[in-house]
Amino acid sequence: MVDAVVEPILEVSGLVKHYPLTQGILIKKQIGAVKAVDGVDFTLDKGETLGIVGESGCGKSTVAKMLVNLERPTAGSIKYKGEDITRLGGRALKAVRRNIQMVFQDPYTSLNPRMTVGDIIGEPYEIHPEAAPKGDRRRRVQELLDVVGLNPEYINRYPHQFSGGQRQRIGIARGLALRPEVIVADEPVSALDVSVQAQVINLLDRLQNDFDLSYVFIAHDLSIVRHISDRVGVMYLGRIVEIGKDEEIYDHPTHPYTQALLSAVPVPDPEARERRERIILSGDVPSPTNIPSGCRFRTRCWKAQERCALEVPMLAVPAEFRLAPGPAAHDSACHFAEEKRVVPPDDLGNRGA
Ligand SMILES: Nc1ncnc2c1ncn2[C@@H]1O[C@H](COP(=O)(O)OP(=O)(O)OP(=O)(O)O)[C@@H](O)[C@H]1O
Ligand code: SF4
Ligand SMILES: [Mg+2]
Repeated sequence: MVDAVVEPILEVSGLVKHYPLTQGILIKKQIGAVKAVDGVDFTLDKGETLGIVGESGCGKSTVAKMLVNLERPTAGSIKYKGEDITRLGGRALKAVRRNIQMVFQDPYTSLNPRMTVGDIIGEPYEIHPEAAPKGDRRRRVQELLDVVGLNPEYINRYPHQFSGGQRQRIGIARGLALRPEVIVADEPVSALDVSVQAQVINLLDRLQNDFDLSYVFIAHDLSIVRHISDRVGVMYLGRIVEIGKDEEIYDHPTHPYTQALLSAVPVPDPEARERRERIILSGDVPSPTNIPSGCRFRTRCWKAQERCALEVPMLAVPAEFRLAPGPAAHDSACHFAEEKRVVPPDDLGNRGA
């Protein structure tokens, strides 16, 4: 029997967000653009978690905002179950938005301090009244509090009466209120203590099973997403430079930038730390208003050659691995991709377990 081809729940192609840079007060003239996202492609399957990782300013939040329609792309498409949502408007867009919800990074600033927890979690019902009849909302909110591990009797409390981890649980409950299929979590644990990070990641893991959710999980540290991700995409200066399954990225990275990021992740065991190779990148990340020609990573890459300045490397399985099936044969945007294990196996990323 031939397996049915399952369509991805999200399919992102050529996604671009350029913010115009203008000069002049009365007559504004465009003098350039901040290329926050500059051609991103990925798919998300149903029930899957895709981790997106990269340094500050590489465009992760901008991708997240476009996925939930808080920003409109400059170019490209975002297909939800085959339909390009960037072209939708009105009622059709509203219906789709219900199914793709966001959990924000900072639970201290993303919750309105003057609203009760019940009003915060129930707020999506004001925008989508069809999701829950008015008389039923309080009970639903209490259920959601219970689902995220908070006491349902806290419904009338205010955000300041909760710890950081509890506030993030409130943010997650709000994200779940409309029973979405996709959750875009933008650094949901970055503002939390390490001990609390693991609890929140475990909660997200459990909710994924209970509610059949698909996640785009954004982080700036590769070790945070390992436990929860099925696949990981590494972003640099507005683009994904390497993407693959968990094992492919962590144990068989082929892009120099991924290798450098992996060499910097915290390794708890001192002996393993000794064995790990450190790769120190030279220079700063270039400005997204002035992206280097050819390979955008070349100004910091220790392997850069002339070709790197002339030709943009495509995100695809590099030619040298195409005929050799195995974990190194995954998408990597490098002209000179080669396998390099940076961290010894099993020394990495068991923090959330
Ligand atoms: N509204 C805006 N106008 C102009 N530039 C913007 C705007 N929003 C973001 N940028 C710029 O776009 C780039 C990408 O920003 P973004 O917030 O997506 O990065 P990020 O990867 O989420 O970073 P962080 O890890 O710090 O959250 C940055 O250079 C940022 O300054
Ligand atoms: S294409 Fe060249 S500059 Fe870019 S990552 Fe590969 S070796 Fe480095
Ligand atoms: Mg961000």
